[in-house]
Amino acid sequence: MADPADGFVPPASLAEFAALARAVLPADVWDFVDGGSGTETALAANRAALDRVAVLPRMLAGVDDPSTEATLPGGRAALPVAVAPMAYQRLLHPDGEPALAAAARAADVPYVASTLSSTPIEEIAATGATVWFQLYWLRDRALVADLLDRAEGAGCAAVMVTVDVPVLGRRLRDARNGFALPPHVTAANLPGGRDDLAHQGTPGVSAVAVHTGAVFAPALSWADLEWLRARTRVPLLVKGILDPRDAVRAADAGVDAVVVSNHGGRQLDAAPASAAVLPEVVAAVDQRCAVLLDSGVRGGVDVLRALALGADGVLLGRPLLWALAAGGRAGAEAALALLAAELRDALILSGCPDPASARRLRTRIGG
Ligand SMILES: Cc1cc2nc3c(=O)[nH]c(=O)nc-3n(C[C@H](O)[C@H](O)[C@H](O)COP(=O)(O)O)c2cc1C
Repeated sequence: MADPADGFVPPASLAEFAALARAVLPADVWDFVDGGSGTETALAANRAALDRVAVLPRMLAGVDDPSTEATLPGGRAALPVAVAPMAYQRLLHPDGEPALAAAARAADVPYVASTLSSTPIEEIAATGATVWFQLYWLRDRALVADLLDRAEGAGCAAVMVTVDVPVLGRRLRDARNGFALPPHVTAANLPGGRDDLAHQGTPGVSAVAVHTGAVFAPALSWADLEWLRARTRVPLLVKGILDPRDAVRAADAGVDAVVVSNHGGRQLDAAPASAAVLPEVVAAVDQRCAVLLDSGVRGGVDVLRALALGADGVLLGRPLLWALAAGGRAGAEAALALLAAELRDALILSGCPDPASARRLRTRIGG
């Protein structure tokens, strides 16, 4: 837990970090983090779907000191949770990625480093956190190969390829704000000059969208995934799966996990809530690979909901950016400590000695 001497007093819930972040962030950065695509229908659906998942708690189970430990594709972790890959963390706080990675290390959970991190992957790994590398497929295949070699050289414990961004979703807030990266925030893993477009502000246009349009490969295919599987020695996760048929195909390709995700409502606005399709994906892959969930998780009770729906764990996104903005490393440590305490309580209240038993809980959709 954050030391009050750091001057950071944590709020009572993860959701309350949002107001703390909003108070300190420039309005366009707040919108970049908070926003979804289009009418933000998928963004709203994530929360609504999780709220509709009721979990039937077990009584008289004699549980007072549950373990929160979990086995994730990249190894064991203190919680069935990893820090979601999120670009450009120096937008939130000058200490950026190393601060959030150090908090992940303190909480003993993996930190997923984005291809678009504003700190080089090697510096993130130097925090000593368990780092997984998130790959965005770039048009330049040699650059993709170089990034994978660098991630491996830096000791990354897993590779997570994101497959739901052939182009950036139409994020209207960023377009209206003419959002562009400030000069001090760079795509630090890309060779010099490859992020120029992300800095060029134009009224009515998101420079971040223009930049990704120029550097991301728009037509990723299953053959590319097979190429990646063949050259990756560490566990491979595929992030952005929603259709059970894609999950089965990914399992066929030999991936270690699929991440059921609608990218926090930031890509296809007509996408379903990830929690709504999770049970179908779990049934379809039939334990041939692990299944993680993200999009909308806001506390320990949501982790319990995901486990009860059959997930092996979750990725936590925006709440950790809010905490980073509000209190730097101490803020992020406080958020992860709060999540651990909430999950522990949720396990006790549902009569589960550990996350694996939570996967045997029954659920009712709609309360
Ligand atoms: C500001 C921001 C940046 C993101 N950058 C990336 C990224 O670089 N790579 C990626 O795979 N997903 C990225 N995501 C998506 C997250 O990994 C995750 O899927 C999503 O935030 C989960 O939803 P949640 O924020 O509701 O927890 C980003 C999300 C946000 C909010």
